[in-house]
Amino acid sequence: MTSGDGSASDLSRRAAQIEISPTVAMAQKAAALRGMGRGPIDLTVGEPDLDTPRHIIDAAVDALNSGRTRYTASAGLSELRAAVALRYRQDSKVTFSADEVAITNGGKHALFLVCQALLDRGDEVIIPSPHWPSFSEAVRLAGARPILVHTHEQDGFQVTARMISKATSPRTKAVIVNSPANPTGAVVDAEDLLVIGDMAQRRRFTLLFDDAYARLLYRRVDPSVLQALRDSVSDRFVILGTASKTYCMTGWRLGWVLAPKVLVDACAALASHSTQCPTSFVQVAAIQALTGPQRAVQEMAAEYRQRRDFVLSALAAIPRVTCVEPGGGFYVFPNVARHLSPAMPSTSAMGLRLMEEAGLAVVPGEAFAAPGYIRISLARPMPELTEGMRRLTAFLERQENA
Ligand SMILES: Cc1ncc(COP(=O)(O)O)c(C=O)c1O
Repeated sequence: MTSGDGSASDLSRRAAQIEISPTVAMAQKAAALRGMGRGPIDLTVGEPDLDTPRHIIDAAVDALNSGRTRYTASAGLSELRAAVALRYRQDSKVTFSADEVAITNGGKHALFLVCQALLDRGDEVIIPSPHWPSFSEAVRLAGARPILVHTHEQDGFQVTARMISKATSPRTKAVIVNSPANPTGAVVDAEDLLVIGDMAQRRRFTLLFDDAYARLLYRRVDPSVLQALRDSVSDRFVILGTASKTYCMTGWRLGWVLAPKVLVDACAALASHSTQCPTSFVQVAAIQALTGPQRAVQEMAAEYRQRRDFVLSALAAIPRVTCVEPGGGFYVFPNVARHLSPAMPSTSAMGLRLMEEAGLAVVPGEAFAAPGYIRISLARPMPELTEGMRRLTAFLERQENA
């Protein structure tokens, strides 16, 4: 028996409960205003403003010209799987074999596939929050329950092993750690990560480590921690990664899963009935991204650091705004709660008014389960960041004097 009228608008419960990602929605709103010639300064963006490096583009063009246009294996080209494994070995001293790597259509797809492959109805997944909204939605889409663990500004939004431990239950199937985190920029402490790994082993859950921003770090992190985790929790440790941010390849849609072979094979089987495989010539270009010169990555990280420092100093000059210094990634996440008022009772309301009255688009904290905050992207050129911060400062001053 089906409920409803059976038409194509009679959506499944799954689709009816899901909404477009709030970060994407805000960026689309800003783009629509731009289309009407009223373009705000758009600091919602979750993608680098820099172009994909030339050698990667050339590799894709060469691949197209040489006929690399057919289906590939669902888990991806074996050379690319090996190149991902090699990159991790070189950067993070962590060892996975090529058949413990699945290539996916982006990091979001990596998360989606792993959730589909791991989770059943009734399972719980612990997610430190403020969090990237796709974490909780991917868990829900797999029928499981996200359990949010709230981290706090006064602790630098750090998640600790103790906080995770308190949230576990016999139904805990996985814990997601995102470091550096979107939206807070928090970098998980190596010791806590190891204790969480230990817990994963003892309490039989999987640790999903999302390292989308791992190459954009503003402080030193011991690279050997991932191998230490791998040694202690090998069959319960999964890395979700992407070429999007590191190589300015957001539109190319290329990500990966590093996991025990059983899970990699399950992801490939799921992909074989949906996307079939990541785009063939994009995979060839990704080999070049991973094995070619890495200078552009270092230059990009240096550029973001300068932008971060500028935005932090602009925020520090605004009365009653506080902000944790991000340790990585390309967002800052200031607390603007003390500027809320009956006329502007939430950061969602502030976001709309900022867009309409000040010509500035940011993502309200509600998108990350963190009302009272706004997310400012550093992935815009300095002149736009400068103008954006001027507009934010002037807007908040106007509210003060209203
Ligand atoms: C924490 C985190 N993980 C993964 C991704 C996935 O990016 P993509 O699907 O472009 O690879 C994003 C994108 O915003 C992100 O913020």
